[in-house]
Amino acid sequence: MTSLRPLMRLTRALPLRPAMVGVLHSRFKYTQHQGVKGIRNRKSFFEAQMQAGQHGDEDHEEAERGDSNGNLADMRFLDDRAYDEVAGGAMRISRDIASTQQVLILQPYVKWSAKRQKIPSDVRPVDQLAEASALIHSLPNWQVAKALKVPLESLERKTLFGSGKMVELKALIADLRQEKHLTCLFVSKGTLSFAQKRFLEAEFRLPVMDRYSVVIQILRLHATTAEARLQVAMAELPYIWSQAKDASVTQTRRQGYSLTDLQKEILRTRERKLRAELDRVRRQRQLLRQKRKQQNYPIVAVVGYTNAGKTSLIKALTVEDALQPRNQLFATLDVTAHAGQLPCNLQVIYMDTVGFMSDLPTGLFECFVATLEDAMLADVIVHVQDLSHPCHAAQRSHVESTLRSLAFNVSGGDSATSQLPPIINVYNKCDLVSQPSSDAAVHHISARAQTGLEPLLADIEEQILAATGRRKLQMRVPSGGPEMAWLYKNAAVVDTVADEAYPNRLMMHVVISQRTLDQFKREFL
Ligand code: GTP
Repeated sequence: MTSLRPLMRLTRALPLRPAMVGVLHSRFKYTQHQGVKGIRNRKSFFEAQMQAGQHGDEDHEEAERGDSNGNLADMRFLDDRAYDEVAGGAMRISRDIASTQQVLILQPYVKWSAKRQKIPSDVRPVDQLAEASALIHSLPNWQVAKALKVPLESLERKTLFGSGKMVELKALIADLRQEKHLTCLFVSKGTLSFAQKRFLEAEFRLPVMDRYSVVIQILRLHATTAEARLQVAMAELPYIWSQAKDASVTQTRRQGYSLTDLQKEILRTRERKLRAELDRVRRQRQLLRQKRKQQNYPIVAVVGYTNAGKTSLIKALTVEDALQPRNQLFATLDVTAHAGQLPCNLQVIYMDTVGFMSDLPTGLFECFVATLEDAMLADVIVHVQDLSHPCHAAQRSHVESTLRSLAFNVSGGDSATSQLPPIINVYNKCDLVSQPSSDAAVHHISARAQTGLEPLLADIEEQILAATGRRKLQMRVPSGGPEMAWLYKNAAVVDTVADEAYPNRLMMHVVISQRTLDQFKREFL
């Protein structure tokens, strides 16, 4: 069997947690989950490259032992009190999310036509409410005091709710203050306008959050690598600008949030620094991509809606014991890479990616697009879907349409060349479903119970061989000769059997690309 060591070495060097994150942790009050994806505990490739002069695996390993003071200096600007004040004013979030919060969730929806909300008709308000609760549960110490749907005529009114509904809600909030010590209100709508937020806060005398600000809170919590932290910081800026724009149109300064010239300058400077840092990180990511191409490892990108079970599937398919799936939304914020082996012994890299979620303002995920570009350039995509989720069909079409638009972006906006890699669809969590679907074109698995994995692996293998132009061949070679050693080193050896016709020879079953086969011929024939 071929050794996984070189691949393990390469995957160890992929986007990982920089050593300086430990230092940064101590600078933030909120709780960080340590080692979420296991592999994140190691240092980042780009960081290693910075220190090692961009050469060779030995250099990466050497660099992994070093420190990262250069990077630390670059990242310090993220910890900026003046910026925190501006952000807190716009988003109602703070670095201190460790404190307990009791949240009232309101899920507004247009009562007389689902179509009016421009949401897929199979996503019902009750499902949106469940997703909103899952978002709150993703934050430690945040509890749902009550969650309810609120039918409305329109979502665009300046006051959001009509006067009758306001009276009802005020009474409810007064009760919840008494009974559950209510501390904040989450209106589960993509974004609230500044005017809506300000009005509701004044009426209810509670901080009011929308989906954007809750998701940012979660992303801040889960961003552990330097790249993820930069991306989250970047994702905050469009929201702050839009709230400020809103404020200048609809409100006067005396009513609260609006930006002074100094604050605007703080935002612009931060944006400039973030862009410069992200550019640097992306250049390193590109180098990494090139290196993977040179190494010729096939890549399987695992994508899907948040919480569908992507990490669990990779854990089941690989030897990565350290991977820790979590029942939380947006647990993965980086593309991380994990070594695996196909039934034919061919080594592959599985890429774990950021989860998708619908009804989020487009600006929020634009910042993560660069990490998802890796998925677009994979040889095969595995799309994991949670079959037990009531909205799995809507989730699937959301992911598919996002993938299509990502492929379009990656091709530079050219629809002729925008092509997705082959996609293998997988229904996960079948152990939770009493009546599995009859869709034969989709794999039915349970990553947790480890069922259905063999046919899935066989399919991945078939698609990888087709996509990368590899073939299964039988090769007759001298027993114990240099050809054998060469093939073990450069191809995937399925098995080796004695050749009955020639006692001094062996029959090797190998998986090999045309390029490697040509090299072999040049070397030995
Ligand atoms: P994000 O990183 O947030 O996008 O999530 P993910 O898609 O990587 O999901 P993850 O693997 O972290 O799993 C989410 C939750 O679903 C965890 O609590 C898992 O234990 C659970 N889960 C995953 N697969 C299965 C399964 O086959 N059956 C059951 N019952 N639970 C599963």
